[in-house]
Amino acid sequence: MRVLLLGGGGREHALAWKLRQSSEVDELFYSPGADPDPANAGLASVAEWVPLDILDPGEVAKWSEARRVDLVVVGPEAPLVAGVAGELRRRGMTVFGPSMPGALLEGSKVFAKEFMTRHGIPTARFEIFREAEAARRHLASRCTEYPLVVKADGLASGKGVSICETLEEALEALDRFMVRRVFGVAGERVIVEERLLGREASFFVVTDGRRAVPLETCQDYKRLEDGDRGPNTGGMGGFSPSPFLDAAGREAVMSRIVEPTLAGLSSDGISYRGVLYVGLMLTSSGPKVLEFNARFGDPETQALMPRLASDLFPLLLSSARGELDGVPVRWRDEPSVCVVLASRGYPGAFDSGWPIAGVDRAETREGVAVFHAGTRRSAGGTLVTAGGRVLAVVALGGNLEMARRIAYEAAAEIRFEGRRHRTDIAEIARTA
Ligand code: AMP
Ligand code: GLY
Repeated sequence: MRVLLLGGGGREHALAWKLRQSSEVDELFYSPGADPDPANAGLASVAEWVPLDILDPGEVAKWSEARRVDLVVVGPEAPLVAGVAGELRRRGMTVFGPSMPGALLEGSKVFAKEFMTRHGIPTARFEIFREAEAARRHLASRCTEYPLVVKADGLASGKGVSICETLEEALEALDRFMVRRVFGVAGERVIVEERLLGREASFFVVTDGRRAVPLETCQDYKRLEDGDRGPNTGGMGGFSPSPFLDAAGREAVMSRIVEPTLAGLSSDGISYRGVLYVGLMLTSSGPKVLEFNARFGDPETQALMPRLASDLFPLLLSSARGELDGVPVRWRDEPSVCVVLASRGYPGAFDSGWPIAGVDRAETREGVAVFHAGTRRSAGGTLVTAGGRVLAVVALGGNLEMARRIAYEAAAEIRFEGRRHRTDIAEIARTA
């Protein structure tokens, strides 16, 4: 079988690494976009690079048809929201990833909130605003309780959410999203919602629109610094499974959230094939949805793939074909811990081009995998940094503490100028 994977980050390296282990995958291509520099030396070592404008459905379709690709797997949200999956499907191709409007569950928070209200799916109480003046009046009303959360409707690379302690902070967030439009049209509509308290967890299901196979649970770390301080990032690490979602908790997420979501999609006439990522807050009154994503999480996927004992390819293929039935999915018992190594300056303007040493040594350790996000080969063949998040070091261990120790020992082998990482990933006591 011939597979094309869209995307070029750490998540895609982890997916490609796992797909490569499948006896059914003969050829694996990846396209991070049209950039002539592939900028992921790890992916390039397991898959063949193809420069395509992955936001252009016609271009992706043309290439896939010409090369007789059997399965297209869409990694990031942007091509999904650009309608790539739908266009490929219309042309009769097999695609893992939802068409529109399924992808709007991620692409529009207003769409997702209205969907959840319509189908009785537990989430934070909210109001939607289309005009700044009405939003200001609401924020200043005596009936409005603080802290609260202000969110831009559209895609904003995880930066369109502001937790506001005071009216001033809320007005500032509103101004940024709606008036100054720092995220462009993503700020045309704004949601003001209740701040939920509890533990966060990431919950993924692979679905064909009717059936859903839950994957193992994860926790990720979005803030740059230890103790969940500093700016939000794309993700500084994670671990699996989440100790806060036992079998009964997972069952509650399936019955109260996933099943009503699938039933709601189907009654709204939306066919959804791909992964549904449920960002959860585990509150004292049960699990509630913080957000939906229409794709695998990053870096959760890096933590999950080494734990997946069975073949990934049949799972993705049968979801894409709408035949998700009886596909065996087995997991290793060992937990995993994923530590992201980032460049100096990240998540702001960052350094790049520094030589990276020690990846081979780290990878030879038992149970360790190193997934690349921002790396490339220099003209002389040296591995150098080429992104904000550079590498994810993932380790399996007999228990979470062992996995954590191995991940940090392996991470310590890897050196580059300006390297930074959190030191408290999977330290449950400290994050408690
Ligand atoms: P989102 O992109 O909507 O998941 O928001 C990003 C992050 O903001 C989440 O992972 C939470 O940490 C936080 N967040 C979003 N909505 C809420 C909420 N209603 N209450 C508390 N925290 C929230
Ligand atoms: N880890 C968060 C995300 O993928 O959105």
